[in-house]
Amino acid sequence: MKRVLVTGGAGFIGSNLVARMLKERDHYEVVVLDSLSYSANLENLAPFEDDPRYSFIRADVGDDAAVTEAVKGCDGVLHLAAESHVDRSIMDPAPFVASNTVGTQRLLEAWRRGPGADGLPLVYVSTDEVYGSLSLDNPDERFTESSPLEPNSAYSASKAGGDLFARAYHHTFGLNVMTTRCSNNFGPFQFPEKVIPLFVTNLIEGEKVPLYGDGKNVRDWIHVDDHAEGIIATLEKGRPGEVYNLGADNERSNLELTHAILEILGHGEEMIKYVPDRLGHDRRYAIDSSKAASDLGWKAQWSAWPGALESTVAWYKDNEAWWRSVKSGAYRDYYAKQYGGR
Ligand SMILES: NC(=O)c1ccc[n+]([C@@H]2O[C@H](COP(=O)([O-])OP(=O)(O)OC[C@H]3O[C@@H](n4cnc5c(N)ncnc54)[C@H](O)[C@@H]3O)[C@@H](O)[C@H]2O)c1
Repeated sequence: MKRVLVTGGAGFIGSNLVARMLKERDHYEVVVLDSLSYSANLENLAPFEDDPRYSFIRADVGDDAAVTEAVKGCDGVLHLAAESHVDRSIMDPAPFVASNTVGTQRLLEAWRRGPGADGLPLVYVSTDEVYGSLSLDNPDERFTESSPLEPNSAYSASKAGGDLFARAYHHTFGLNVMTTRCSNNFGPFQFPEKVIPLFVTNLIEGEKVPLYGDGKNVRDWIHVDDHAEGIIATLEKGRPGEVYNLGADNERSNLELTHAILEILGHGEEMIKYVPDRLGHDRRYAIDSSKAASDLGWKAQWSAWPGALESTVAWYKDNEAWWRSVKSGAYRDYYAKQYGGR
């Protein structure tokens, strides 16, 4: 039995990851550490409340005393806790630096002073956004793990700060740190400020979908189960100090994605509301995941289009109570500020 600390485990990717670790494997005991920020939802973890292999600690990754206590007795750490939404980082970058850069350094330090001193692994879950943007003119170009870090948003800059500390803690202290850089995720339990659940739930509510700029920005979409398996594969088979790109070779422009969602839900073009582009909006992300395939034996298997999108849309249709409770209160204020109301 391996006891693994999962930071950010009450968020979208974290809760899907915890579910895979507890349901698909019997050799993990999971301790979730999460500050329960606006995007967290303990309901996602409710099925495991009585599972003796699951426990929960409410704490900030920057809280030295709490994290030092939490890492005791752990055999590994999967570090996902972060402020995760680019639009919010444009509104206010400061919490991003605190959680994503400083919080990561604090966790690395606690691990170094704790079980990490015995060579036990910590996986830092980063993002392909640290590489910056590719142009639309060169469709064959992809980021590899040795591409330079050229983050363009406060979100990606703060995540890149975490990447650099992960690298430094390996290089300087010999900490067994590995980093994953994954592309855009979709699937169940995603906070509806992100484009897929935002568009799907708006359409179910009879609202238009706010599409940024010309809609030509391209993202490589990966199902959250594929990302979770990539993180677990990194923990189990990754080499200390290495970085692994995780992507699904599933590039779609935002306009293509919007049309696909409209079609699945039986709506037409008239439900698109074009809104001014996001400031500094990265044009295209695409990554080469061949290193994860060769070194970890990992490959995306649940991200195939349009099936994976259809099953995700079906999940939001079947789980209205989950997102309706999320899309209220402070969320409405955020939405009005971001998109100028309904
Ligand atoms: N969503 C994507 O497409 C994507 C792609 C690649 C990488 N990632 C990375 O995966 C991780 C999880 O992303 P997500 O989409 O699940 O985000 P999310 O916003 O749904 O979840 C983040 C979780 O972290 C917690 N958290 C935030 N700050 C914290 C802090 N200081 N201390 C403790 N807990 C804190 C939140 O309460 C929340 O439960 C992030 O590190 C993100 O950068 C996300």
